[in-house]
Amino acid sequence: MAAKVTVIGIGPGHPDYLLPVAERAMRAAQVLIGSKRALRTFARPGQVQIEITGRLEEVITAVNEYRLTAPVAVLVSGDPGFYSLLPYLRQHLTADDLEVIPGVSALQIAFCRLKTAWQDADLLSLHGRDWESVRPRLTKPAKVAFLTDREHTPARIAGLLLQAGWPDCPVFLAENLSYPAERVIWTDLRSAAAEQGFAHSVMVVLGSA
Ligand SMILES: C[S@@+](CC[C@H](N)C(=O)[O-])C[C@H]1O[C@@H](n2cnc3c(N)ncnc32)[C@H](O)[C@@H]1O
Repeated sequence: MAAKVTVIGIGPGHPDYLLPVAERAMRAAQVLIGSKRALRTFARPGQVQIEITGRLEEVITAVNEYRLTAPVAVLVSGDPGFYSLLPYLRQHLTADDLEVIPGVSALQIAFCRLKTAWQDADLLSLHGRDWESVRPRLTKPAKVAFLTDREHTPARIAGLLLQAGWPDCPVFLAENLSYPAERVIWTDLRSAAAEQGFAHSVMVVLGSA
C-alpha cells in the first residue's frame, strides 16, 4: 500500500525556525523532495533527494513512484497553506494521501520584524504571478503585504502602486529573513520605486494607518 506523503513547511529557511514536529517528520522520511536550498539545508546522508524544478509534473511522478516503497516528504518554504505547492498536490492526491505540517510563513517573520499585527493586512503574492491577478484587490490604499520575485521586485510593485494612484506612504522591505544575510529597511513608496535588490523578499505597504 502507498504511504502517506508528508508536506512539511520549512519556515523562512534557517533551521532555527523549523518546528520540532517538522524536524521529526523530515528525519522519518526516506525521500525528500524540495528546492535546492531546502535540500541543502535539511537533507541528511542516506536520504534520496529530488530537486523541484519548474516542471511540477515531475514532482507528482516522483511522489507516486517512491511512496509505494518509502516515506516521502515534500518540503515547501514558509507555511504549506500560503502560496505553496499544496493546491497542486491536492489536484493529484487525495486528502487522505497527505499529512500537512505547518511552518512559519515569511510573512509572519516579516511582521515580527515590523513589530506589528498582520490581522488587518491584505496578504498577496506576486511570486510567479502577474500584476493583473492582484490589481482588483488594490483599489484603495491599505495595509498590504506582498511576496515578491525577481520580476515583481519591490521597486516594480511600488511603481505600479504609484501609477494606480496610491499616495506616498511607509513601506517595509525584508529580504533573506532568518538568514545571517537578513536585511530589513523602512522606506516610503517613492523611494522604494528606486530601490535595488530585495528580490527574495516580503514588502509591506502601509497605505492606511
Ligand atoms: C513560493 S512563495 C512561498 C511562500 C511561503 N509558503 C510562506 O508561507 O512564506 C516564495 C516567496 O516567499 C517569500 N520568502 C520566502 N522565504 C523568505 C525569506 N527567508 N525572506 C524573505 N522572503 C521570503 C519571498 O517573497 C518568496 O518569493
